[in-house]
Amino acid sequence: MKLKGTNIVIDTAWGDSGKGKFVDVFSGDADLVVRFNGGANAGHTVVNDYGEFKFHLIPTGIFNPDALSILAGSVAISPLTLVDEINELREKGVAISEKNLLISEYAHMIMPWHIARDNLRESARGDAKVGTTGRGIGPLYADRTERVGVRMGDMLKKNFEEIILRELDWQTKLITLMDTEEPSPYLESLSPEKVLADFRAVQEILAPMIGNPLPIIWEAQKAGKEILGEGAQGILLDIDLGTYPYVTSSHPGVTGFSIATGLQQNDISRVIGVTKAYQTRVGEGPMPTELLGEIGDKLRELGNEYGATTGRPRRCGWLDLPSLRYSLQVGGVNSIALTKIDVLDGMDEIKICTHYEYNGKKYDTLPTADAAFMAEAKAIYEMMPKWDGATFGVKDFADFPQEAQDYVKYIEDSVGVPVEIISNGPAREEVFYRI
Ligand code: GDP
Ligand code: IMO
Ligand code: MG
Repeated sequence: MKLKGTNIVIDTAWGDSGKGKFVDVFSGDADLVVRFNGGANAGHTVVNDYGEFKFHLIPTGIFNPDALSILAGSVAISPLTLVDEINELREKGVAISEKNLLISEYAHMIMPWHIARDNLRESARGDAKVGTTGRGIGPLYADRTERVGVRMGDMLKKNFEEIILRELDWQTKLITLMDTEEPSPYLESLSPEKVLADFRAVQEILAPMIGNPLPIIWEAQKAGKEILGEGAQGILLDIDLGTYPYVTSSHPGVTGFSIATGLQQNDISRVIGVTKAYQTRVGEGPMPTELLGEIGDKLRELGNEYGATTGRPRRCGWLDLPSLRYSLQVGGVNSIALTKIDVLDGMDEIKICTHYEYNGKKYDTLPTADAAFMAEAKAIYEMMPKWDGATFGVKDFADFPQEAQDYVKYIEDSVGVPVEIISNGPAREEVFYRI
């Protein structure tokens, strides 16, 4: 599928809407593919001729041998996870070298202490936990904001080990205070010998790929080349605009792309909002349309809704238009890519949340992402006609059952953004342009 200029793929909900699939589909013609936020908390599934992959860090554009895949400076990089991914891809015949993968020297590294702090904090929160992926994301971004930590560029320095040991010393003191368990499993993971051995093992593999992507991005943009931004997580998980505090620590929308690349709104041709035909969420936090009974279980089974990173069952519910309208607004989305409509083929009833009620007032759009509002908001539904027959793999919108066509039209009319692309199966081919 052909795009022109700079396009960004973002997720309009709480993640897992199918971004990986679209980046794979679009990156066939891309010159640069830029992953711009989050870290190995992401799990982006790609099903193509090479097999099925769950990417946590590497941009899914890596399958295009002519594109340069970039991990931007605002990505939280676990060097160990990254090397595991590189090895897995190489084993499956995908060539990866400094020719097609560039890692920003400015990106901070997830170290074992971030993972320890993430898990210790979650346990200490008890019932008030966020339900993080346990990948060290919050502590990494906290350190970055505090202007401490180890960056990918440090791997190129002669005193790399000294930098690690200095930081390890400080972090060990912190974790000794946090972890009261005897013996502490986390402190074991921080033994200097182990930490150094792990990082020595990956240094040689990653060092040739580390550099400064910014001038390359700017030149490509000026030359009118095709740049594809790959967002991780979703707008409702944005640290500032998401359902705080049940959010991640980065910016999954256009803002995140701009911070990462220095390209601004005027440089961006299109923001594609990947939207699942129903709602899912992993981890804690309010979800007004959550279905706790049999119907939710059925959506989970038909949609195979289990986390690509942690394997946790995803919470499932009906499509939530008030939160979608909010995401489209704050995400600057001008084109919707609707996914997983085929999952609704198997449902005996289909509903859509048209608005919320809160304190006796009607809300068409989520007025604030504050979790407390969402927790109290009552979802009001409209019953949609179910359909017989299938949308799965169908190539032409006109061949969808009429009720499925109406479902799609209902969404775009309700939110005022066109559904331009439809995905109706996990594989690369199961997608078409509608407009
Ligand atoms: P991401 O994090 O947004 O990239 O999404 P995930 O990979 O975490 O979750 C999306 C899941 O849905 C994956 O298992 C995909 O293979 C699958 N998927 C993507 N698009 C479709 C679709 O249109 N239909 C079906 N049935 N599955 C899809
Ligand atoms: P992709 O890119 C779904 C959720 C976690 C948790 C919250 C904070 O695959 O869509 P964190 O580990 O980031 O501190 O966890 O955010 N979360 C995701 N949920 N998809 C993701 O990524 C997610 N990344 C983080 O479940 O609720
Ligand atoms: Mg995912």
